[in-house]
Amino acid sequence: MTVNSNFIINNSSALQGDLTIPGDKSITHRAIILSSLSNGRSKIFNGLQSEDCKKTISAFESLGVKINIKDDFIEVFGAGLNSLKKPKSILDAGNSGTLIRLLSGILATQNFESSIGGDKSLSIRPMERIIEPLTLMGANIKSNNNKAPLIFKPSKALKAIKYSSNIPSAQVKSCIMLASLFIPGTSIIRETIQTRDHTEQLLKYLEYPIEIKNNEIIISGQKELLAKDIFIPSDISSASFFIVAALIKENSNIILKNIGINTLRTGIIDVLIEMGADIKILNKFFKGSELIGDISVKYSKLKPIKISGSIVSRLIDEFPILFIACATCKGVSKITGIEELRHKESDRIKAMEVGLKKLGIIVSSTSNSITIEGGNFEGGIVDSFGDHRIAMSFIISGLVSRKPITVTNADNINTSFPDFFSILRKQKVELFKV
Ligand code: S3P
Repeated sequence: MTVNSNFIINNSSALQGDLTIPGDKSITHRAIILSSLSNGRSKIFNGLQSEDCKKTISAFESLGVKINIKDDFIEVFGAGLNSLKKPKSILDAGNSGTLIRLLSGILATQNFESSIGGDKSLSIRPMERIIEPLTLMGANIKSNNNKAPLIFKPSKALKAIKYSSNIPSAQVKSCIMLASLFIPGTSIIRETIQTRDHTEQLLKYLEYPIEIKNNEIIISGQKELLAKDIFIPSDISSASFFIVAALIKENSNIILKNIGINTLRTGIIDVLIEMGADIKILNKFFKGSELIGDISVKYSKLKPIKISGSIVSRLIDEFPILFIACATCKGVSKITGIEELRHKESDRIKAMEVGLKKLGIIVSSTSNSITIEGGNFEGGIVDSFGDHRIAMSFIISGLVSRKPITVTNADNINTSFPDFFSILRKQKVELFKV
């Protein structure tokens, strides 16, 4: 349910102590999906229970999978790759691009008809990026002009493919991998720029035959997924709001515990360190399919940055909060090669440019870049465009603003980080819902 909720943030004191961030959204989606397709009972520990992930649970329940949400874990009873049942009505992906794109790979290869849609934001996001490869695999898909809702009809012409995507996208890659699971033969997916590899790592962990050679993923269809317990690391994308908060708020000193530090997700740490951030990764260890560590962050005087190239996909979701960091440091930051930000839950280049300008920061943009001149946040009213990461970024800017900041249309924070407010309140940040 989305209602228009607005938040006023009225400055704060320094952030201190250990912070616990909920489970990773990308990995939770994948854990629910792959456990549902495996043979037996799995327990998912530290799974994120946000609106997006709850939609994934509901979708698989509608496809006939038994899932229980317990206090300490999500329990999934998979009945094997070929066990899904025709849903009674259209599946609802809500606000989640990951859910619609990943699940489409599965729906396109079933022997029953199904359809999937989502909210207003999801219904204007591009789907040709998955329709094209799935159609090459022989799938039968109808769409609303390459947008959701998508309708899948059974196809007798499904075949394995060799595919190279020209968009660096983990969602597209994962969609094809999931479709490949159901199709006899070997599919090969080539990436020119590497994106998050949680699907590959989880498939390996569940002992599915998959090979990764240089920039190619080689995957055979119709093999078995083992049901295993899965531990989800805490979400580095959610942690990033507090990493930047501690860096910009004088005298802050925090440790974020058990964060997923897969190198394909840690671009934000590399960039902030280059900007002069005092960030250290402590107590690294592998658990299941992922590398985990604690992240210590101390207030730092940041320098502006220039970014472009392959690092972009390693921090794709962290740009809004990085722009807040750039807006606080003296000098001009320029970030290029980010046209994909225009296709997220909102047009994130536009949403950040409009909001930063409202707060008194000098910003300009092109179709694929943004230039931010550091200054002071003067306070004001900022629209989040219904985008969770835009809303959280501007709420964090309120920690260092001269006057209060009101962030409007922020209810979608629940899609990824329902605990965001309780963590801020524990840190004694003055925050009011209006
Ligand atoms: C995700 C991949 C990224 C990211 C999104 C989550 C995933 O999207 O922005 O929030 O879980 O695979 P793209 O694949 O569109 O880059």
